[in-house]
Amino acid sequence: MTTPIPCPPSLPFFGHVTQIEKEVPLRSFILLSKQYGEVYELLQFSRSLLVVSTYELMTDICDDKRFVKNPTGGALAQVRNGVGDGLFTAQPGEENWELAHRLLMPAFGTAAVREMFDDMYDIAEQLVLKWERFGPSVAINPAEDFTRLTFDTIALCSMSYRLNSFYRDSSPPFVEAMVDFLVESGQRAFRPSLVTNMLGYNAKYEQDIKTMADLANEIIADRKANPTDKNDLLNRMLLGKDPKTGKSLSDENIKNNLLTFLIAGHETTSSTLSFSMYFILKKPEVMRKLREELDEVLGDEPPQVGDLHKLPYLNACLRESLRMGPAAPMRSVEASEDTTIGGGKYAVKKGQTVAVLTAQALRDPKVWGEDAEEFNPERMLGGKFEALPSNAWQPFGFGMRACIGRAFALQEMLLITALIFQRFDVMMDDPSYELAIKQTLTIKPKDFRIRVAPRKDRG
Ligand code: HEM
Repeated sequence: MTTPIPCPPSLPFFGHVTQIEKEVPLRSFILLSKQYGEVYELLQFSRSLLVVSTYELMTDICDDKRFVKNPTGGALAQVRNGVGDGLFTAQPGEENWELAHRLLMPAFGTAAVREMFDDMYDIAEQLVLKWERFGPSVAINPAEDFTRLTFDTIALCSMSYRLNSFYRDSSPPFVEAMVDFLVESGQRAFRPSLVTNMLGYNAKYEQDIKTMADLANEIIADRKANPTDKNDLLNRMLLGKDPKTGKSLSDENIKNNLLTFLIAGHETTSSTLSFSMYFILKKPEVMRKLREELDEVLGDEPPQVGDLHKLPYLNACLRESLRMGPAAPMRSVEASEDTTIGGGKYAVKKGQTVAVLTAQALRDPKVWGEDAEEFNPERMLGGKFEALPSNAWQPFGFGMRACIGRAFALQEMLLITALIFQRFDVMMDDPSYELAIKQTLTIKPKDFRIRVAPRKDRG
């Protein structure tokens, strides 16, 4: 006998769409999980969504024999309008996902990512130089500069293309098109298509998609006309062959994946860097320990790639930031068979969409203890991270469809955070600032400002 899954009262046709906050939908999902418990059902027009928020249920959903990622609804289905069968938005069984996954896994492996260190350093230095020039009289919005950093880094590492965001007042047209495309894709998920047509949003949306595609196609054509021996992701996709079938990726799929890396690789990393900046600054003793570690390992020397794994406290700060502020706070899967979750407690029908509220599951007191709501890097140190129950820490998703860019993002984040705290005294612009969230496809701190000054205790 299974337990019925609670479903809050809803409106005809709209379902619960009007009850989900527009500005920060995550807040509504969290509130509902506090009211309705570990699992509840929501209706998005005619589409039913189960939302689970505990470690136990999340673990069930991680069984990829019973649950698969299938972006046919919600924001990801809309993002597919621009990047088709790229890795992030591919549907189960699409051959191009399998080809690209096999071909690109080594390209995103630890060894390949280490080779990208110099390009990462090049962009990281641009941020540091800008902050040095600003000095303490300017209140910096770190999320904006981290977005410049992550966009430029992924563009340089994936296709040797310089966006030069640190040298412009406004974003390049391509970046503007991508940002508008992502915002509109997110909103479309909560709006009937009839309304989208009536409001005339389609022309701008199509134009943004074209602007993105044109640049990616131009870069592919240029590389074909002017081959280089650079081992970047574009060359790996153009020249690589699937080890299993010997097939190559089509130009269309390469374009989709280039755009996918830019989309999946910039905002997530920038959000995480902004959260970690907030959490570190909020706890002076954390900042002090971090500084001690950096001084001991790096001294005044620029960080080298081999130094990054010698910084356990910095690694712990990033892991804990990803737990407390997972940039992707929800992920969705579909049941591939009739099944149950919660040890047989709840029935789930084949085809049912289930969303994991990662942001809540990563604070489940059953795993993280009574201080689960506290930022505490110590819980990731001294073998405690490795001893966590399986699937407990998953800000990068899970299984076959987990983040391919994890090693890339971690290296980029370790490098820039090390550089910032090695070189600057950093403080909050408003020391009484309390975390507020801004949500687009990811979440990040809202209206958060810092001030930086070159360290007084260094020559
Ligand atoms: C997938 C998080 C950085 C590329 C994912 C997923 C999550 C995630 C949660 C799974 C999404 C789902 O199940 O629907 C993050 C976070 C990052 C980050 C928190 C930074 C801190 C990056 C970077 C890249 C990247 C730097 C590329 C260079 C991808 C791709 C996928 C993905 C291509 C889809 C993989 C597939 O389905 O085969 N990421 N990501 N991510 N991520 Fe990331």
